[in-house]
Amino acid sequence: MDGVLSAAPPRRLEGKVAIITGGASGIGATTVQLFHENGAKVVIADVQDSLGQALAYKLGDSVCYIHCDVSKEDEITNLVDATVAKYGKLDIMYNNAGIVGRAFGSILDTPKSDLERILAVNTTGAFLGAKHAARVMVPQHKGCILFTASSCTETAGLGSPAYAVSKYGIVGLVKCLAAELGQHGIRVNCISPHAVVTRISDLFDRVDPTVMEAQLREMGNLKGQVLKTEGIANAAIYLASDEANYVNGINLVVDGGYSVVNPTILNMLNDANK
Ligand SMILES: NC(=O)c1ccc[n+]([C@@H]2O[C@H](COP(=O)([O-])OP(=O)(O)OC[C@H]3O[C@@H](n4cnc5c(N)ncnc54)[C@H](O)[C@@H]3O)[C@@H](O)[C@H]2O)c1
Repeated sequence: MDGVLSAAPPRRLEGKVAIITGGASGIGATTVQLFHENGAKVVIADVQDSLGQALAYKLGDSVCYIHCDVSKEDEITNLVDATVAKYGKLDIMYNNAGIVGRAFGSILDTPKSDLERILAVNTTGAFLGAKHAARVMVPQHKGCILFTASSCTETAGLGSPAYAVSKYGIVGLVKCLAAELGQHGIRVNCISPHAVVTRISDLFDRVDPTVMEAQLREMGNLKGQVLKTEGIANAAIYLASDEANYVNGINLVVDGGYSVVNPTILNMLNDANK
């Protein structure tokens, strides 16, 4: 029994090679650390060079940093080719990099340039990441492509119209690629997180993170819990691991059930019944 209790946890990504875009900060940085702890070799791809290099240095030999603006195809091409040159293959491409721009606001206040920038990073960047991962995964006859979408793809009103469009595009791409690349043994899925405190919005800089988390906890459906970046990273480990070897084409919503619950009518009826 002692032996069982003291056994090291299984390394669920042992031997796998992963790229994580947006890996220098937030959800991506936590995922880099957990993939590394689970035995993966990880390439951090980001535009925040100092943060990305510092994280790679901290984690050691099996993690490296490559500068990559995901909206530029030549930089994605270089990222994928450099990864294969260094590690010999690519098993997991996690297209996680994203921006919110103006997090909230009306479509009437959205300049075309804002929409184009959000689409360039969130949607075109994800598309290009998937395209160049597929280029090397198809000849391997296996691989896993992941994306970070958002719970705004399940519940309206959680983000700006431009952000919602960019993330709905990812969900459509997942379904399309699950069909196409499934023919080559490649699984394609996305994760849709609810609000989690990171550096993505300057709102999270202006409001104390502890206060923000307390408010999110209060508003959430699943009581006693609050979403942390680890919650998303653990979902990514599952989808990237062989445990999910028949999971393809899903949008894994990590929102504590928020998107499937609307208690307003039942609350009104219960109140009327008192
Ligand atoms: N934080 C949330 O509440 C939340 C909720 C749902 C979805 N998401 C999504 O999660 C993903 C990660 O966001 P986060 O919350 O960890 O934010 P974050 O800002 O901490 O991390 C995003 C990372 O993406 C990088 N990045 C931005 N533009 C890039 C580009 N052109 N090329 C390469 N890298 C780029 C940033 O430098 C940063 O390191 C994003 O796709 C975001 O839309 C976040």
